[in-house]
Amino acid sequence: MSILIKNIKQLLQVHQDNIKIVKGADMKKLPLIENAYIYIEDDTIVEFGTMADYKTIDAETVIDASGKIVLPSWCDSHTHIVYAGNRVSEFVDRINGLSYTEIANRGGGILNSAKTLQNTTENDLYEQSLKRLNAIIAMGTGAVEIKTGYGLTVDAELKMLNVIKRLKQTSLAKIKPTLLAAHAIPEEYKNDKQGYVNKIIKELIPKASALRIAKYIDVFCEDGYFSIEDTDAILKAAKKHYLIPKIHVNQFNILGGVALGVKHNALSVDHLEELNNDDIVALKNSNTMPVALPACSYFLGIPYTPARQIIDAGLPLAIATDYNPGSTPSGNMNFVVSTACIKLKMTPEEAINAATINGAYAMGISSMYGSITRGKKANLIITKPMDDYSSIPYEFGDNPVGQVIINGQLLNP
Ligand code: NIG
Ligand code: FE
Repeated sequence: MSILIKNIKQLLQVHQDNIKIVKGADMKKLPLIENAYIYIEDDTIVEFGTMADYKTIDAETVIDASGKIVLPSWCDSHTHIVYAGNRVSEFVDRINGLSYTEIANRGGGILNSAKTLQNTTENDLYEQSLKRLNAIIAMGTGAVEIKTGYGLTVDAELKMLNVIKRLKQTSLAKIKPTLLAAHAIPEEYKNDKQGYVNKIIKELIPKASALRIAKYIDVFCEDGYFSIEDTDAILKAAKKHYLIPKIHVNQFNILGGVALGVKHNALSVDHLEELNNDDIVALKNSNTMPVALPACSYFLGIPYTPARQIIDAGLPLAIATDYNPGSTPSGNMNFVVSTACIKLKMTPEEAINAATINGAYAMGISSMYGSITRGKKANLIITKPMDDYSSIPYEFGDNPVGQVIINGQLLNP
């Protein structure tokens, strides 16, 4: 299978070298080729350049991308797309005045989703999740991290991991699985949080690791959920099983989770709607990617992650959807890129870097995904006709995606 795309108005995120991350002031740079071509063989980017330098290539499929932009597919490094049912009624409760925390304290929230998921068969859960996965692929996402965390029992968490495994086997998208058993304290452990933490450490982590279906470990480090001590203990246990941390920190309160994540060499620390100077200092000289989730702030009406403070301190930043039934029932990375520009005051170049190469870094896959580089995987977005790439965030709420190529296959010819 070979695809040649010709007459591309702008080919974005073009790197001769295999870059893995973009930080600080460099995030304002988005290398591009005007009037370009790109050639793909099987699942790999083989060649690209200007049309002026183009010499005839015999490809099975030829696409004329006149007036269109081509860029690497979105890399969504934080989702919870395996869930059952929905939480529409809580959405309405919030409109009528209840807060996210009040709803959770009444047994709604994550516990509500856990109850539904526990009563859903693996097949049904797979079908519901596959629909969401296919929908986000059509909106330009080519690589996605998927968390557990709506099981909250050993069996239900393993059921979620199995569903992620099946999605990995059937989908063309690149999928990275994360064990987030420490997402909430189950009803039956209401007065024995330590008992649940022990269960995660002694039973769930070893079982998940033995089945080789989790790559990352996550903890919701937050008041009313898991403390710094709980998080530390879970990350320590996970390390023995080679699970790398990607953790939920600073969504509502600053507990010190950023420094803890850095101490454990976390791949990413996500949310950061609350952030102080100590957090910035901790992130400097670390390998940890800060991840902002602007669609979550939009939906819950909580503060936006201070992206300017992070980038202006010379740090990298990734953006992701947080797609889940409670705080972000949307997996639209185009909206996330727009919201990053509109609300986080990121430039279009910064937002596109954050949603491609840095998102790939936050999933540990940036040597193969996130930029237009020879040898990287052929996951591409071909936009609808537009004047300039800044129209992608500018036309917020619109779908800029015309066609997608995923793992070298054109999905919508
Ligand atoms: O990332 N913060 C914790 N977890 C999810 C929300 C989960 C839910 O409400 O179902 C999040 O926002
Ligand atoms: Fe999340």
